Amino acid sequence: MNILVTGGAGFIGSNFCFYENEKHKDNRIICIDKLTYAGNLSTLKPLMDEPGFKFIKADICDRDTINEIFEKERPDIVVNFAAESHVDRSIEDPSVFLSTNITGTSVLMDASCKYGVKRFHQISTDEVYGDLPPDRPDLFFTEETPLHTSSPYSSSKAGADLLVMAYARTYDLPVSISRCSNNYGPYHFPEKLIPLMIINAMNDKPLPVYGKGENIRDWLYVEDHCKAVDMIIHSNIYGEVYNVGGHNEMKNIDIVKLICKELDKPESLITFVKDRKGHDLRYAIDPSKIQKDLGWKPETRFEEGIKKTIKWYKENKSWWEPIISGEYMDYYEKMYGNRR
Ligand code: NAD
Ligand code: TYD
Repeated sequence: MNILVTGGAGFIGSNFCFYENEKHKDNRIICIDKLTYAGNLSTLKPLMDEPGFKFIKADICDRDTINEIFEKERPDIVVNFAAESHVDRSIEDPSVFLSTNITGTSVLMDASCKYGVKRFHQISTDEVYGDLPPDRPDLFFTEETPLHTSSPYSSSKAGADLLVMAYARTYDLPVSISRCSNNYGPYHFPEKLIPLMIINAMNDKPLPVYGKGENIRDWLYVEDHCKAVDMIIHSNIYGEVYNVGGHNEMKNIDIVKLICKELDKPESLITFVKDRKGHDLRYAIDPSKIQKDLGWKPETRFEEGIKKTIKWYKENKSWWEPIISGEYMDYYEKMYGNRR
């Protein structure tokens, strides 16, 4: 079977390529990625010599190139991880989020229709549901929760989800969608909360917590997400949406304090900075549908996952040190320079 993975040089896509390569040795993985600031080819180095793995640098918005790739590689399954993924960047400039996340998804689905792809799986996010009140711990996002987005990022992902369901109904494209909560683990780009705090703490730099740090996210170890996607794409269920999450809600401030503790760094590094515009208060997933239909459940407890993640960042400075020099420093200065 030929599996085309887009965005495979990013955080979750690369972890998925590793997972899939290990689990299904007989499948071919064709990984395409534009290699934006968030894509890192060095991440995929261990796979480059594998006979069942092929990397192609391509933009999912480039229709001619995408059609050529489909013509040549004849994918059976397409898994679309490629996206602009950072909320803060979407607040600064939404335009690229609209083209990659919405137009790019439609270009991939047009090619999937044309070349008879057997499954198009869209990697979505719990952020399409908006947020939940922190004082109602009894409420969770289910697949029936209305889409109610807050940021240009989540709006572009919701737009893509609506298009996916429209292609299923209009063109009979066999689709599935997964909406996952916040992931953490190896190869996570250091602009996101957990890797940013680990790396800043390791470098004795201030830890910029937005607002009061009271916002809640539902954290899932990346390998558990990969397993969920693998179970969905190899199932015989089509046209369904699955929420993926592990009932692991935590306040940002508690995560940052935990990282300080694990790294033996003082909490005095924590700096409260100006809040994110439109900041979602709480995400919390009800994963009972995927548990019931496919038997998926998370395997890594947060206490164990965060230790593994911190250890990985300690042992893989050669992966992140080049990232946090150069272009990333310009981004950091722009985002955090005057943020009081
Ligand atoms: P990431 O930013 O680390 O990786 C995105 C990858 O897509 C990068 O390698 C980038 O080069 C590539 N890309 C961007 N634009 C492209 C284009 N036009 N053509 C081809 N490739 C392009 O993101 P991530 O955290 O790995 O997220 C992957 C997917 O999972 C995204 O769709 C995101 O919305 C979704 N998601 C992420 C999380 C999370 O916690 N990180 C949670 C839920 C859902
Ligand atoms: P992030 O990792 O950007 O993921 P998302 O916004 O998609 O959930 O942020 C996670 C939470 O951490 C979010 O509530 C914003 C907060 N945050 C900070 O407090 N400081 C930071 O420097 C960053 C990047 C995020």
